[in-house]
Amino acid sequence: MTNDQWTSVDRYFTDLLAPADEALAAALADSKAAGLPEIAVAPNQGKLLNLLATMLGARTILEIGTLGGYSTIWLARALPADGRLITLEYNPAHADVARANIARAGLDKIVEVRTGAALDTLPQLEAEGAGPFDLVFIDADKANNAHYVSWALKLSRPGTLIIVDNVVRGGKVAVAHPDDPAITGTREMIELVSREPRLDATAVQTVGTKGYDGLLVARVVG
Ligand code: SAH
Ligand code: DHB
Ligand code: MG
Repeated sequence: MTNDQWTSVDRYFTDLLAPADEALAAALADSKAAGLPEIAVAPNQGKLLNLLATMLGARTILEIGTLGGYSTIWLARALPADGRLITLEYNPAHADVARANIARAGLDKIVEVRTGAALDTLPQLEAEGAGPFDLVFIDADKANNAHYVSWALKLSRPGTLIIVDNVVRGGKVAVAHPDDPAITGTREMIELVSREPRLDATAVQTVGTKGYDGLLVARVVG
């Protein structure tokens, strides 16, 4: 679901405020050439992630759902030279494309792409003593969104920012869709966040080149 006006406004903002450089443009072009779905965050949304991470002074970031590493590049560019970003990806073909895109962006020293289902790799991270992360970006299979927020909380500290992408999906989120696991998972996640005293959160709707969607932003308070 897109609208010509949303797209032209996104182009206007993006050209002036979040223009692509060679590494970002090549990341998208090579992802497309490799047959990956064109579902990366929009450039102005990537820039928002970058600004939020910068404002936090983030040194450690966890991403769940890498695809071709486009959002990863925006996030990792907010980190200092000794920062660390771990991104979790189920599909080994996506992970290979992402690793090449991340290396071309000069970020391979601070970014690690881990292959596997996130519900398997998250417990491994915990067992290794990884974290607490300063920022967690959740953008993988939406059916598991509530599980991912629970894991993000386990791997966080007071002050950690948790961001969940695609929480609106054309407006579907407002009504139960028992036959749609993505909507069910996102609604379970929103309800979990609303009940969780350690999280203070909001969610906003967005429109643009990626259609009508939205994101949840939560701060760990205790
Ligand atoms: N964050 C990316 C887009 C991610 S698209 C960006 O904005 O640039 C969602 C990704 O999650 C896909 O690559 C998909 O393969 C991955 N994914 C799906 N199920 C997963 C799982 N169980 N564990 C980890 N990654 C998963
Ligand atoms: C889908 C996934 C995303 O992360 C996204 O930003 C848009 C669409 C999808 O699975 O359709
Ligand atoms: Mg997304």
